[in-house]
Amino acid sequence: MSYRFPLKDAVRHIDWRGDRLRVLDQRLLPRRLRYVDCRSAQDVADATRAMVLRGAPLIGCAAAYGMALAARRGEDLSRAAKTLLAARPTAVNLANAVQYMLEAAKRANGDRPMAMAAAAQRYFETDLRANQTMARLGASLLKRGSRVITHCNAGALATSGLGTAVGMIRYAHYLGKVSHAYPCETRPYLQGSRLTLWELMRGRVPATLITDNMAAHLMKTGRIDAVIVGSDRIAANADVCNKIGTYGLAILARHHGIPFYVVAPATTVDLDCARGDLIPIEERSAKEVVEIFGRPIAPKGARAHHFAFDVTPHDLVTAIVTERGIVRPVDGRHLKKVLG
Ligand code: MRU
Repeated sequence: MSYRFPLKDAVRHIDWRGDRLRVLDQRLLPRRLRYVDCRSAQDVADATRAMVLRGAPLIGCAAAYGMALAARRGEDLSRAAKTLLAARPTAVNLANAVQYMLEAAKRANGDRPMAMAAAAQRYFETDLRANQTMARLGASLLKRGSRVITHCNAGALATSGLGTAVGMIRYAHYLGKVSHAYPCETRPYLQGSRLTLWELMRGRVPATLITDNMAAHLMKTGRIDAVIVGSDRIAANADVCNKIGTYGLAILARHHGIPFYVVAPATTVDLDCARGDLIPIEERSAKEVVEIFGRPIAPKGARAHHFAFDVTPHDLVTAIVTERGIVRPVDGRHLKKVLG
């Protein structure tokens, strides 16, 4: 990757300060940059549940620091692990990070808090390097001047600092391979309009916001060359779980003959989960659907579903880009082969 391409986003959305983890409150973006200090594993779990921080790889990085905070405070690490694991159910990166930290604790001899802080930092840096490799590998899949759709936020804000799908888009744009990006708004939490568009504009990638229900029209009228998304968990058979609405985009892409790419680090793959339909799908409060920024958008007393994620069957996915290589064709056998 060329040295002139920014290898991480300039915004400090997660900042380890030794005695606390400072995180950017993503709920307030793009209107305000406000930081929240997490001083314990419980604080990290609360911030994760409340969506102060979100995005599968970032949830994992924050959990790693949460475990380091627990070690620093002399807390019971298995209890801290349980607290963190209960924060959100779908992104497997959380469990991966907690496991990594429990193993680091076992190996630590001497100053355990220091060893745990160093392990969390390593976890973070490994994610950043994975982002950079995926951006490079992913860009190789695109033809010059591609116009792409992305969904939710799989950018710097969702990871250690460059992004998965958005990292690929930004690097491909730098190479002249992406001419325009269309982030879907991503109801109900609006990660696409609030976060992804913000990141793309800051990165000077030409981008136009669309509401989720506009994707089909854009594809039908020949304005899209690829769909590029992240993932919260990839099952052993290569089914892909991601933000609600991703499955619909995959079906649309298949119908219109448009490639559908998933970009995700190895920490998102769950080989212990045989198939996508076994992935726990988070259901969040209906309030987040019937209100926007605290204002009602449905009749008082309205019932609403809030499934936060859906699963795309592997046969709808053209390729999965990981830092260990590109999985193509997409099935369990090739996934395992690439992951080694
Ligand atoms: O509910 P969120 O905002 O945590 O959901 C995030 C997503 O679905 C992302 O697409 C996914 O975590 C990949 S992030 C690199």
